[in-house]
Amino acid sequence: MRLLSVVALSLHFRGLLSQALDANGVSLDEKVLAIERLLMTPGTIDFPVTPCDFNLNSAPINIAGDQTAAQWVRTVFHDFITADVKAGTGGLDASIGFEADRDENLGITFKGNSFINETIIGFNLFSEVYISTADFIALGLAASLNACDSGTPIVRLRAGRIDATREGPLGVPKPEDSLTSATDAFAKAGFSNTEMIQAVACGHSIGSVHKIDFPQIVGNDPTLDVSPPGTGADTFDSTPFKFDNTQVQEYLTGTGKRGGPLVTTQNVTMQSDLRIFKSDNNATVKAMSSAASFRNTCLTIFAKMLDTVPAGTALSNPVSPRPWITKETHLDLSPSGVVQYSGNISTQSKAAGTAPGTASYVYLTSSGSTAKSGQSQAGRLQNTNVNGVISEPYGKITDYSFNDTIPAGVTSIKIQNSYTENINMNIFVVPSQSFIKQPTNPDGSGGIASYLVRAALLTSLSTSSATLTGTFYFPSVQPNSVAPKWTRTTFTLTKEKTLGSYTIFKGQVTEPGVHATGTGLHHVDVQFSSMRSAKVLASSFTPRSFFGKCADLTKC
Ligand code: HEM
Ligand SMILES: *[C@@H]1O[C@H](CO)[C@@H](O)[C@H](O)[C@H]1NC(C)=O
Ligand SMILES: *[C@@H]1O[C@H](CO)[C@@H](O)[C@H](O)[C@H]1NC(C)=O
Ligand SMILES: *[C@@H]1O[C@H](CO)[C@@H](O)[C@H](O)[C@H]1NC(C)=O
Ligand SMILES: *[C@@H]1O[C@H](CO)[C@@H](O)[C@H](O)[C@H]1NC(C)=O
Ligand SMILES: *[C@@H]1O[C@H](CO)[C@@H](O)[C@H](O)[C@H]1NC(C)=O
Repeated sequence: MRLLSVVALSLHFRGLLSQALDANGVSLDEKVLAIERLLMTPGTIDFPVTPCDFNLNSAPINIAGDQTAAQWVRTVFHDFITADVKAGTGGLDASIGFEADRDENLGITFKGNSFINETIIGFNLFSEVYISTADFIALGLAASLNACDSGTPIVRLRAGRIDATREGPLGVPKPEDSLTSATDAFAKAGFSNTEMIQAVACGHSIGSVHKIDFPQIVGNDPTLDVSPPGTGADTFDSTPFKFDNTQVQEYLTGTGKRGGPLVTTQNVTMQSDLRIFKSDNNATVKAMSSAASFRNTCLTIFAKMLDTVPAGTALSNPVSPRPWITKETHLDLSPSGVVQYSGNISTQSKAAGTAPGTASYVYLTSSGSTAKSGQSQAGRLQNTNVNGVISEPYGKITDYSFNDTIPAGVTSIKIQNSYTENINMNIFVVPSQSFIKQPTNPDGSGGIASYLVRAALLTSLSTSSATLTGTFYFPSVQPNSVAPKWTRTTFTLTKEKTLGSYTIFKGQVTEPGVHATGTGLHHVDVQFSSMRSAKVLASSFTPRSFFGKCADLTKC
C-alpha cells in the first residue's frame, strides 16, 4: 500500500515538474534514454552476463562457481532488503556499496574480492552521470534475466533511483537466522510471507552456494572437493545457468538437486530455503511450479524489489526500450558558421517489425511546423554476437547515421513519426572545436585530463559583457564504496570570436582528482543566464565523443 502510494506520488510529481533535475542536474528523460541506449547496444550492459554462465573476471566457472549474472541478481536482494517502508528509508539505493565488508553480505569471489565490489566495478565500465549505481543494480537484474531466459519479457524497469551517500542499517537475513527473523526483515521491506517465499524461489533459480563462503553448508561433499582446496560451489538446481522453475520443481519432487544446498544441507540450522518454502505448507512454491506461473510470479516480485526505493524518489515510467531512439546526437558548428546536427538513430525488430532501409525524420520549429525533412544513411545491422553467443533480447538492431545542416529556429527532431528529441540551437558546446589533453603518467597509466571547451551562443541573445558558465560532470571517488559519486565543477568561458550568427566562448577545465575505479565518461554543458545547453560527452572514447586530442591546449 505504502509502496503503491510512493510510486503514484512519484509519477504525479513527475507530471507536475517534467523538467525537474536531480542533485546532479539530470532529468528523468535523460536517465531513461541512457538506459535504453545501453540495452540497444549489444556488447555493453549485456556483455558481463552473456551467456548466463559468463564471469566478467575470468574465474573458471567449474572451479570457482563465480557467475556474474547470479552476483548481479543477488546484489538486488542485499541492497533492497534493508528497506524500512514505514519510515520511507532504504531500499534500492546502492547503500550496499558501503556494506561489502559486512558478514551478512558475505560473498568472496575467486579473486578474493567481495561480489558486491565486483558487481559495482562491472557497472562502472558503463557509468555516466545519467545512470545512478542504484539504477545500474536494477538494470543489472534486467540484463541478467535477458541473458538467463531468452523467453522473458523485460522485467518492469523504472529509472530514477538516487544513490545513498553512506551505509544503511544492518538487516540482510542470513541462512542461520530463524524463520521469524527472515519474515520480519521482509515485512519491514514491505513483503508479505507469500512474497518472501516467491522472492527466495525466484532468486535461487540461478547460481550457487560457495564453499569459500559457507563451508558449513557445502561441507566436504567429495564431488565438490576441487582444486584449489576451499573453492567449489553447490548449485541451487540442475540448471544454474537458466532462469527457470527447475529449483522449485526439484524441491517439490525430490529429484535432481532437491531444492539445493539451503534445503538439503546436513546442518539443520542452515536450511533457510526449506524453512521458508514449507512455512505455508509449500502452497506458494506449488502455485509457481509451472514454467509460466514461475516466470509471471518472478517478473512481478522482481519488479516490486526494484520499485522499493526511499520515499520521495521520482521513478520514471517503465523502460521498454522504445521502438525508435537515438544512440548519439550532437550539434556542431562548421568553420564557416553553419549549424550541423548529426548522430545515429536506432531501431529494434521486436518492437518495430522489419526495419526500413533508411530512417526518415523532420526538424520542427517551436510552433510545430517543419523546418526541414531528412533521411538517414542506409541502416546498418548491428553485430549481436556477445562473448560468442547471439544476444538479441530486442531482436535485430539497426542503426542509421545522419548528418545535416539545419536552419535557424529548429527546436526538435521527430524521427519516423515516433520519437522526438529537443534541440537547443540557442546555446551549445561545439565538439569539433573542443579538445582533450590526456597526459600519461611516468608508469604509463593515464593522468588527469584537461579540456578546452568552445561553445556557441546566438549573438542576438548575448550581451557585451557575457560569459558562460561551463559545468563538468565527473565520477569522483568516495570513501568505503567503489561506486562513483557524481560530482560537478564549474568553469568560466569567455568570448573569443564571432562565427556566423554565433558568438564563440572558450574555457578550460581539469578534472579535480582521479575518477572512481573503472569509470571514465565525463559530460560538459554550458549555461548563460537561464539557458542551458545539452550535455555532450567529453572523453577520449570514440565513437561517442567528438572532441579532438591536443597536447598543448594553448595552441588548439
Ligand atoms: C532469507 C532470504 C535469503 C537467504 C537466507 C539467502 C541466502 C543465500 C546464500 C547463503 C547464498 C550463497 C552465497 C554464496 O555462497 O556466495 C545465496 C546465493 C544467492 N541468492 Fe540468496 N538468500 C535469500 C534470499 C534471496 C533473494 C530474495 C534473492 C533474490 C534476488 C536471492 C538471490 C540469490 C542468488 C542469485 C544467489 C547466487 C549467487 C551466486 O551464485 O553468486 N537470495 N543466497
Ligand atoms: C551449523 O551451523 C551453525 C551456524 O553456522 C554453526 O554454529 C554450527 O556449528 C553448525 N553445526 C555443524 C555440525 O557444523
Ligand atoms: C514440502 O515439500 C518438501 C520437499 O518436497 C517436503 O519435504 C515437505 O514434506 C513438504 N511439506 C508439506 C507440509 O507439504
Ligand atoms: C558532418 O558533416 C560535416 C560536413 O561534411 C563534417 O565536417 C562533419 O565532420 C560531419 N560530422 C560527423 C559527426 O560526422
Ligand atoms: C570493497 O570496496 C570498498 C571500497 O573500496 C572497501 O572499503 C572494501 O574493503 C572492499 N571490500 C572487499 C571485501 O573487497
Ligand atoms: C554513428 O554512425 C557512424 C557512421 O556509420 C559511425 O561511424 C559511428 O561509429 C556511429 N556512432 C555511434 C555512437 O554509434
